[in-house]
Amino acid sequence: MAPREESAGLRHGDGGQQDEARLSRRSLLSWMIGGSAGLIAVVLGTQLIGFAASPAFEAPSSDWVDLGPLDAFQPGVPKNVQFVITHRDGWKEESKAASVWVVRGNQGTNDVKVFNGHCTHLGCIYSWQAATRTFDCPCHGGEYTIDGRVIAGPPPRPLDALEFKVSGGRLSCLYQDFKLGVSQKVPA
Ligand code: FES
Repeated sequence: MAPREESAGLRHGDGGQQDEARLSRRSLLSWMIGGSAGLIAVVLGTQLIGFAASPAFEAPSSDWVDLGPLDAFQPGVPKNVQFVITHRDGWKEESKAASVWVVRGNQGTNDVKVFNGHCTHLGCIYSWQAATRTFDCPCHGGEYTIDGRVIAGPPPRPLDALEFKVSGGRLSCLYQDFKLGVSQKVPA
């Protein structure tokens, strides 16, 4: 009988060691999980602070674009100018193609109109028709006069005229997109 009790005592001793081992494994695991969560919080927090502090966080809504020498635009003959606009938003950089129509009059340097190249109805690209002297949109039959007034089709407002300046003989415009399909000219 004595050896049986001894072995029973030994079994109890093994169980205690196993419990301790299990406990210390659990503590180690808890510590690791807690540590990882803390590390993730620190990394995310740092990135969010950096993102908020970045000057690019101010969403750009417009850009000045050089359109070339003013003399390159003949009075009474609309000319299309195409370019690429690049916006930076934090680490993300986005480029998009854009275009304007420049219409020069005969009344000197400031007799200029620069129109956003999108139709104000749903944004299709319109073009100048020399034969009819109108800007025509192929999508739904929108038509505008040389000074941007709507004369046919569904466009709800005139072409979107952009701010421009002439400096050192060069023309530039403040490129901007506007909400489509509405009668008010509201920045997009
Ligand atoms: S998008 Fe130009 S008429 Fe519809």
